[in-house]
Amino acid sequence: RAMSPRKIIIDTDPGQDDAFAMLLALGSPELEVVAVTAIAGNVPVSKTERNARQLVELAGRPDIRVAPGCTRPMVKPLKTAEYVHGDSGLEGWELPEPSTPALPVHGVDLIIDTVMAAPAGEITLCPLGPLTNIAMALIKEPRIAPRLREIVLMGGGYFEGGNTTPSAEFNIFVDPHAAHVVFTSGVPLTMVPIDCTYKAILTPAWLERLKAVGKRTALAAAGLAEFYQRYGNQKFGTDSYPLHDPCVIGYLLRPGIFGGRKCFVEIEITSPVTMGATVVDWWNVTKREPNCMVLRDLDNPAFYDLMLERIARLP
Ligand code: BDR
Ligand code: CA
Repeated sequence: RAMSPRKIIIDTDPGQDDAFAMLLALGSPELEVVAVTAIAGNVPVSKTERNARQLVELAGRPDIRVAPGCTRPMVKPLKTAEYVHGDSGLEGWELPEPSTPALPVHGVDLIIDTVMAAPAGEITLCPLGPLTNIAMALIKEPRIAPRLREIVLMGGGYFEGGNTTPSAEFNIFVDPHAAHVVFTSGVPLTMVPIDCTYKAILTPAWLERLKAVGKRTALAAAGLAEFYQRYGNQKFGTDSYPLHDPCVIGYLLRPGIFGGRKCFVEIEITSPVTMGATVVDWWNVTKREPNCMVLRDLDNPAFYDLMLERIARLP
């Protein structure tokens, strides 16, 4: 008997690597994407929401509910990343205007309503951007916390430091206060920091295999990746660059190709120097109860083989 698919909500700020995460999820029968909520991050939410609708339609799934979430972080002003993702957030491929309008519902309410309507322990949240919507949902309706199965998020960095400041990764740096709310919520957490995602290097050879699939979605994904690679060239001086966000979905599909350990993790929300740092007690020196599974290792070829096979299933 086939197991029923695991239900996930993707909270996202697309973003080329967010796009890969969404496509990997939508191409995977083990997962059912029950809602997509957009958040301000890589670009403002007016753009990430539209990008999210374009992506579900690209994957042939206009039926998936997409709602716009919060317009800015809880305390700090919004910091965006057009220098990585381009002005639209999805530079690299011209996607058609979405045919379905935005849902007339706020993303925070879509999260709350979906979780409250589902049986307890059923829904997994997959945040791929700043954690504002998740924190706001936990604050507005605390009863969702014990009903969630798990939160698996892309964010943070410990051994690699940060990619936005020397000590903070983008998603956590943009809204550290929201991250603090999430990391103290008691919900089972898995964090995929840059310590892990820097091992998810996309190679030019893989990009050629993706293009060779020849279908609409694969070609669009390849175009997005090619644009995003340019930033990799500037940053690392190589022709390869990591795709961060699809690691979240990869972990849900194949936990065995990831390695990590459960740790106590705290978010820095006070120091102006290290604001947004994810302080991981890797060696449990505080003896505090772990609140998060922290991923660090990845079998890159297995991950990219999986991603290719799944994106190739899409139209
Ligand atoms: C994260 O920041 C964003 O630019 C990416 O989409 C990813 O979620 C990596 O630090
Ligand atoms: Ca993202």
